[in-house]
Amino acid sequence: MKTETNNKIRQFDQVLEIIKKHKYQKTRLITILQEVQEVYRYLPQEVLTYVATALDMPVAEVYGVATFYAHFTLEAKGKYVIKVCDGTACHVKGSSKLLDTLRSALKLSSEKHTTDDMLFTIEAVSCLGACGLAPVMVINEQVYGEVNTARCDEILNQIIEKETEIASVS
Ligand code: FES
Repeated sequence: MKTETNNKIRQFDQVLEIIKKHKYQKTRLITILQEVQEVYRYLPQEVLTYVATALDMPVAEVYGVATFYAHFTLEAKGKYVIKVCDGTACHVKGSSKLLDTLRSALKLSSEKHTTDDMLFTIEAVSCLGACGLAPVMVINEQVYGEVNTARCDEILNQIIEKETEIASVS
């Protein structure tokens, strides 16, 4: 619990730094939101309200920007965001099977995207621009090409093992 509180304080300190670095400039709003999203992996409502107050802008305007750009998300995401491409080339090569495999392994669905422990988020996305490697999935920044269900399980298990190790030492 204490770690969680410390973490929240640390994240909020980073928000203060970001706003200060951009000199409270309204014209820097998009950059500020991008950097805030890097801190939280999404844009929490209370932080958006804080940003609006700090930049002396209407909250609705800040929300307007945050909801206009597809790059921004107001939904909390897991530590590992798994994007499974469901564009045409990947779909033809069986991306739905990958989605099913991942969702069933993590007990997620097309309605529930993030695990309760906030470790994984699964998203079906359109073409990732690597059709030659279909089917493709991206976990955070890492691209995996020609993934079949067995490889998918393997990748997932590697992450789970790594996270179990981290949890056991902390
Ligand atoms: S359709 Fe999947 S990368 Fe293009």
